[in-house]
Parts: sequence; C-alpha cells; structure tokens
Amino acid sequence: MKITVSVIKADVGGLAGHSRVHPDLKATAGIILDNAKNSGKLIDYHVTAVGDDLNLIMTHKEGENSSYVHGLAWEAFVKATEVAKKYKLYGAGQDLLKDSFSGNLKGMGPGVAEMEIEERKSEPIAVFMMDKTEPGAFNLPIYKMFADPFNTPGLIIDPNMHDGFQFEVWDVIAHKKVFLKTPGEIYDLLALIGSKGRYIVKRVYPSESNKNMPHEPVAVISTDKLHEIAGKYVGKDDPVGIVRGQSGLPAMGEILEAFSYPHLVSGWMRGSHNGPLMPVSVEDAVPSRFDGPPRVIGLGFQLSEGKLIGPADLLGERAFDRTRDLALKITDYMRRNGPFEPHRLPEEEMEYTTLPQVQKKLQQRMVDL
Ligand code: F6R
Ligand code: MG
Ligand code: MG
Repeated sequence: MKITVSVIKADVGGLAGHSRVHPDLKATAGIILDNAKNSGKLIDYHVTAVGDDLNLIMTHKEGENSSYVHGLAWEAFVKATEVAKKYKLYGAGQDLLKDSFSGNLKGMGPGVAEMEIEERKSEPIAVFMMDKTEPGAFNLPIYKMFADPFNTPGLIIDPNMHDGFQFEVWDVIAHKKVFLKTPGEIYDLLALIGSKGRYIVKRVYPSESNKNMPHEPVAVISTDKLHEIAGKYVGKDDPVGIVRGQSGLPAMGEILEAFSYPHLVSGWMRGSHNGPLMPVSVEDAVPSRFDGPPRVIGLGFQLSEGKLIGPADLLGERAFDRTRDLALKITDYMRRNGPFEPHRLPEEEMEYTTLPQVQKKLQQRMVDL
C-alpha cells in the first residue's frame, strides 16, 4: 500500500519571545487534523513542537504536494495564528507569508518534508525536527547515517546496504540539484555538503544497483528557504526531516548515533551565530540561553497501514546526556567569543542584518591604505 508521510511546520507565534509554542496552538491545529482524520482524508496525524515551531506529522494516500494536505496544514496554521494573535504571542503568524492558499505550500513560508512510500512489512520511521538552525544542519547527521561506516556498520555488515546509497543534493543558491552515489563519490559529496548554507541533502535513496530495495526515498529534508521567499530576513528556516530505518537501511540505533555529536550549526541568536546542535526530549525542546542552543528532537513511529503507532521520544534518552553536556560546554566556549567570528556568522551570511548599513554608513570615512 502506498502511503505518504508529510511533515509540515511553521512558526506562527511564540510564548515568551521565540522560545516555545503555546499548548492552545497545538490543540487548535489538532482539531483541524482530527476532523480530517474523522472524514477519512488523513489516515493519522501527530502534532508536536520544537521551540517556537509547530509541527504537523500526517499520513495519507494523497501523494506528495497534495493540494488537499497542504491546504489542510495551511488551515491549521491559520487557525493557530488566530489564537496566537488573540493571546498576542510573539511573532504571531510569522511564517505565513501569503494571505491566501493557492494549491501548494511552496513559497508560502511553512517547511515541508514528505515522502510517498510502499509501506514495508514493518516500517519504522523517525521524524527529526530542529529549532534555531537551518536545513544544512541535517547534512552531517544524514551523511553519517547513510555513508559513514564508523557511524553505521550496517554499510559493511548488511548485504542489503553494501551497495551504498544515492544522495540528492540541492544547491539552494543556484537552484540546481545533483545526484551523488556513495561510497564512490563520497569526496565530491563532502566537498559540496560541507558548505551547509548552500548545498543541502534533500533526499537519500538506496543505490540504483541495489535490486533488493525499491528505489524510493529513505530520507527527506525540508529545504524551504525563508529569506529567499520573503525577500528579507524573517528568521532561520528551522528544518524537519523523515528517515526510514531497519532491514537494509540504517538501524534505528545507527540513525540516532548520528546525533551523538553536537556539531556546529548556524542559527541560534538572531539567526546569526554558530552553535552546537543539542539533542533533547520533546519536553526539553525549549530554547532558552541566547535563544538556544539550537535543538533537535526525534520522534519514532511504526507505520501500520499508514497509522502512526507511537511516538517514541528518541533523543531525550539518557544515552544522550553526555552529548548534551558537551553541547553545553561548547555553548560556554562559543559564547565567550561574543560578536566575533566564528561564533558570529561570516559577513556573507549577515546580509539580512544591520551589517550592510554599518558598512554603508562608514563608506565615506574609508580611506585608502
Ligand atoms: C532566531 C530567532 C531569535 C530572534 C531574536 C530577536 O532564529 O528567532 O533569536 O532572532 O529573539 O527577535 P526579534 O528581532 O523578533 O526581537
Ligand atoms: Mg520565531
Ligand atoms: Mg523556530
């Protein structure tokens, strides 16, 4: 049976600044999705939040880019925005950039990750959601899961993984994409995705030469670039991703292992700083210090005829305590650098801040060396 998993997110207002989502916003979105489930259009749904982002996890048979499912998410965000406005929550409706919905969420503000798949005999999936960072924050963990045998010994041990995977990489500046095969093209892949503000892993597929696995996506990441859409900076594009696991794919433990190191991502305070990505429980998905540090949550589900059995809170578990400790040590270290690079982002990434104005103001006073 073909099932589509859609994860759609938006920041439609924060409780006490950009820190978290008010429970009434989740409840309001839940009512919209519940009606759709009762009418049979959605198979199942789960509403959650990371930081100030409201996340809708939905399963259905409408395929990717369905105007019905995108319209439903839009309606849920609009209704949640009404509550946010009534409560005067911070940045109410921030990610709804257009006044009305016209068939697809592309360019409208919300982030979308979705995949249509043939549900396997047993289909474990993990949904990862991040706040105070950007889509490229997924590059390193996705690479580790699907291409690094030091993270995923299954690449060596499991005959169904031994052929490797195919990465679909998007150049979000030039609006192009390229498919790269691992392990053969690992060096080319890393040359690109190390520039995580520009080259983003969009999807991963099993290798085409692998006849034991269907050529379907096994991972997908949202890549919607908020600042390109809006024409001005309105916050980082906090990303979501879906990863399938087990039986010829990375085991759930190999998927989670990729988050055991709090790598540096850009975002954090004012979307202008590098900081560690800290894996947390849903309960702890509430940025605090310096509007961060950037956080990631993971929810595990088993699909059962499209039903979302779960969730399992995957990253709150105590095996990630030391990752969190390290993230907090890195937080102390990075913060001591104040407004200096590489804590503050490089000049090119500061173009939506006051930096260009400062440069312009001082232009007249700049004399030749
Ligand atoms: C980062 C973020 C926050 C805000 C910061 C300033 O993505 O959303 O760090 O940039 O709190 O917010 P404003 O400008 O709304 O006061
Ligand atoms: Mg916000
Ligand atoms: Mg956010």
